[in-house]
Amino acid sequence: MSSPARIYAVGVGPGDPELLTRKAERIIRNARVICAPTGAADAASYALSIVRELVDPARQEIISQTFPMMKKGPELESAWEEAASQVVERVDRGEDVVFITIGDPLLYSTFLYIHRIIRSRRPDIPIEIVPGISSITAAAAAAGLPLGMAGERIAILPATYEDYELRKTLREFDTVVLMKVSRVFDRIYAVLQELGLADRGVFVRRVGSGQEEVVFDLSSLLGRELDYLSMLIIRK
Ligand SMILES: C[S@@+](CC[C@H](N)C(=O)[O-])C[C@H]1O[C@@H](n2cnc3c(N)ncnc32)[C@H](O)[C@@H]1O
Repeated sequence: MSSPARIYAVGVGPGDPELLTRKAERIIRNARVICAPTGAADAASYALSIVRELVDPARQEIISQTFPMMKKGPELESAWEEAASQVVERVDRGEDVVFITIGDPLLYSTFLYIHRIIRSRRPDIPIEIVPGISSITAAAAAAGLPLGMAGERIAILPATYEDYELRKTLREFDTVVLMKVSRVFDRIYAVLQELGLADRGVFVRRVGSGQEEVVFDLSSLLGRELDYLSMLIIRK
């Protein structure tokens, strides 16, 4: 008897198709349905662009799922509910569904919200998580920067949620990784300056893609409109 249809959450790495695992490649090639998240209805899925060469639209259904770029709200919640329903419907038809995510699926990915909904609605559906190379380790590699040695402590934070706690975190940890930094960069820079850490940071944009940028002079970024796919690593 064949195994029941399942959901795979597959990390596709930060941008370079060579940073895709062999397991991710096999599962994506074999999938009947591939769900690709986008931030706006007309935005191309970055995750899909990474695996474009593996996908065959003649044989595979590609579902582009749009999630508004906001922290919370009914619009976002209904997008998650709708995405979960699309996935469950395909699985109930006996089709394996692959949900692709940038980097690793368990690190701040949209899949986590859908996972929570499906787990509560349909605990019977098997879900397999395939880890991917995170943008964090790829950014550290691009910058040639160790993330942690010996007893050092590392903090990973979504910058958009940080305010009063940021100073404390920067004081207490040896390495601080700030994700989702684009919209709050100038504010973060001011805090780094105040703590004498402005020259200890590196900004990494679209690591692993043709548009990769690694910037050590953080002051050169002030006032610039920055890419959502960028982060700051501060290492003391
Ligand atoms: C929703 S989180 C996804 C993280 C992803 N699951 C991972 O493991 O890398 C999005 C944030 O990850 C970071 N990010 C993702 N891809 C990136 C890339 N190619 N280059 C730099 N930062 C990236 C940025 O900070 C971005 O705001």
